[in-house]
Amino acid sequence: MTETTTTVTTTIPGDGPLVLGIESSCDETGVGIVRGNTLLANAVASSVDEHARFGGVVPEIASRAHLEEMVPTLERALAEADVDLTQLDAVAVTAGPGLMGALAVGVAAAKALSSAIGKPLYGVNHLVGHVAVDLLEHGPLPEPSLALLVSGGHTNILRVDNVTAVSEIGTTIDDAAGEAYDKVARLLGLPYPGGPVIDAAARRGDRDAIRFPRGLTGERDRERHRFDFSFSGLKTAVSRWVELRRRDGEEVSVDDVAASFQEAVCDVLTAKTVDACRTLGVGSLLLGGGVAANSRLRELLEERCLAAGVELRRPRPALCTDNGAMIAVVGSELIRHGAAPSGIAFGADPGLPVGVVSLPAQE
Ligand code: KG4
Ligand code: ZN
Repeated sequence: MTETTTTVTTTIPGDGPLVLGIESSCDETGVGIVRGNTLLANAVASSVDEHARFGGVVPEIASRAHLEEMVPTLERALAEADVDLTQLDAVAVTAGPGLMGALAVGVAAAKALSSAIGKPLYGVNHLVGHVAVDLLEHGPLPEPSLALLVSGGHTNILRVDNVTAVSEIGTTIDDAAGEAYDKVARLLGLPYPGGPVIDAAARRGDRDAIRFPRGLTGERDRERHRFDFSFSGLKTAVSRWVELRRRDGEEVSVDDVAASFQEAVCDVLTAKTVDACRTLGVGSLLLGGGVAANSRLRELLEERCLAAGVELRRPRPALCTDNGAMIAVVGSELIRHGAAPSGIAFGADPGLPVGVVSLPAQE
């Protein structure tokens, strides 16, 4: 279990509701506390090490880790923020999308907390959390903005009219970008999670060594899937390329394969996202999710945004990966916009669509 806590003491606490956010959709147990748009604490316990030998997240292991870590993580967040449960104005929790068993742990904890302290509960959308988290670092988002979210579980281009009004412009039709990194790392014999290791290997390799396919960029695909992504064909292409070389006894340069694979991913992500900004006439782009740490993605996106006159915003890596503060700030924005709480009768929804920012109260 890897634990981190981020406290921000440099910002003067602003106005706004004191909200505690709980995140448990995948392999990070996160509890964050914000006042309005000011970050007070962000405690995260990651079970990533426990999944490493399986080459990907094992849902059952993730759920058990959330059960073990929920209370200690909550206690760390309260201590870091120097806040007492009774001072909270509201609780927010990831209601979806994510792994059902993992989500259920966070939702149950949040319901118990909200009932115990008698404060409203908001069941919120995880993807919107990835967008809203930028408010904690860079203040109000230009409206509208687009967001590119890339992680092990999602790859989306979103239109953000404001944090409570988000719609999907494009998504992956198969694997998420981070998932492709993890699968290609595995076939190259590299450890999980694959993103950071491929990123490092790619820096030593030649990105022009092999021309791997760019998914959904052909003439016909562009008509139906202009802003959508596909990475499973790329993974198969890398696998076949490596297999054929190995079968013929040729040496495979892992660094060159990593660099060429990474170039194919980053080329498509950046080209389609900047095309979406241009086509929709939106001049502000937010980058989020674990893959946002990728050095080539950042470099190419900055280059292409600059050329297109698009302002690029990127929260720091600790806020880009899954955490509770991003959920807390969605709660605080919902309160600011006068949204109704979700009550405590809702259930976790693994397939929650991005257009549903918070769950309505059930009868
Ligand atoms: O957002 P995140 O921490 O968790 C979720 O998947 O929701 O993202 C984890 C993903 C993993 O697939 C990991 O391989 C990828 O982000 N990742 C990277 C890099 N660092 C992490 N991918 C490419 N380059 C990186 N430097
Ligand atoms: Zn996420």
